[in-house]
Amino acid sequence: MKITKINEYIGAEVTGVNLNKPISEAIKIEIYNALLDNVALIIRDQNFSAEEFMQAVSLFGELMEDQNRRYLADGVPMVSVLSNRHVDSTGKPAKIAHNATWHTDHTNQEYPPKFTILYPVALPDSGGGTALCNMRAAYAALSDEWKVKIDHMKTANTLISSARSSTGNLDIVKEQEVAGIPPMIHPLVRTHPEHGTRSIWFHKAKTENIIGMEPQETQDFLAELLAEAIRPEFTYTHEYKLGDMLVIDNRSSMHKAGFDYDHSQHRMLYRALVRGDRPF
Ligand code: SIN
Repeated sequence: MKITKINEYIGAEVTGVNLNKPISEAIKIEIYNALLDNVALIIRDQNFSAEEFMQAVSLFGELMEDQNRRYLADGVPMVSVLSNRHVDSTGKPAKIAHNATWHTDHTNQEYPPKFTILYPVALPDSGGGTALCNMRAAYAALSDEWKVKIDHMKTANTLISSARSSTGNLDIVKEQEVAGIPPMIHPLVRTHPEHGTRSIWFHKAKTENIIGMEPQETQDFLAELLAEAIRPEFTYTHEYKLGDMLVIDNRSSMHKAGFDYDHSQHRMLYRALVRGDRPF
């Protein structure tokens, strides 16, 4: 096995390992440590059915279910399917654009996934990569003034925030309240439980508000924070080849799906989520 850094801040390529075969404890530890150090890994030349993908990703920890139960791999409920050909319950193309803005996954849950793992099944001829940003580098590079401002902020997270709902009203949030699902409160800057670094961490479309701010003020503030924090050198866009397995440490990063492709072509990825800790 060979592990090669892709750039200074984010991403390393792993070659010479076949995750359909048993691997030694030493190799597992090497892969895991490389993931923590590099924030994201591209493990090349894999060949998975949905079932094999589920088996392979288990090396990173206990899997958790995707909260969107509508698009799961046949017979493999721990693997969800991301596709630009999904339709919603009314038969219209499903809205997937919220994935195309910087976010991290499932922030409305108490224990959001520590790793998101993606594996392409169908790809457009060009474009449709996944962009990644090292948010611990982004946080570290902020001015002290910014750090003091955001260090103790808390976000209130809902499955679908009013910013994401097309009508821009709070009905969905209220529905969740009625259903007894209160917003999940998380820190805006989280500490990595394994190496103690701090990272900016949120899902804009799931953030109803920062505590003490109105929803619109929150959206404006988060946009300003991203514009300040995300620098090209902290980012990497992975343009997939079939066989690539992309593993992302969500505790140190945010990501977004590329929409820069011909949408008449099929883009489909398998996705698995590895259970994480409660952010602090
Ligand atoms: C995701 O947001 O988890 C998926 C990103 C992608 O489709 O590239």
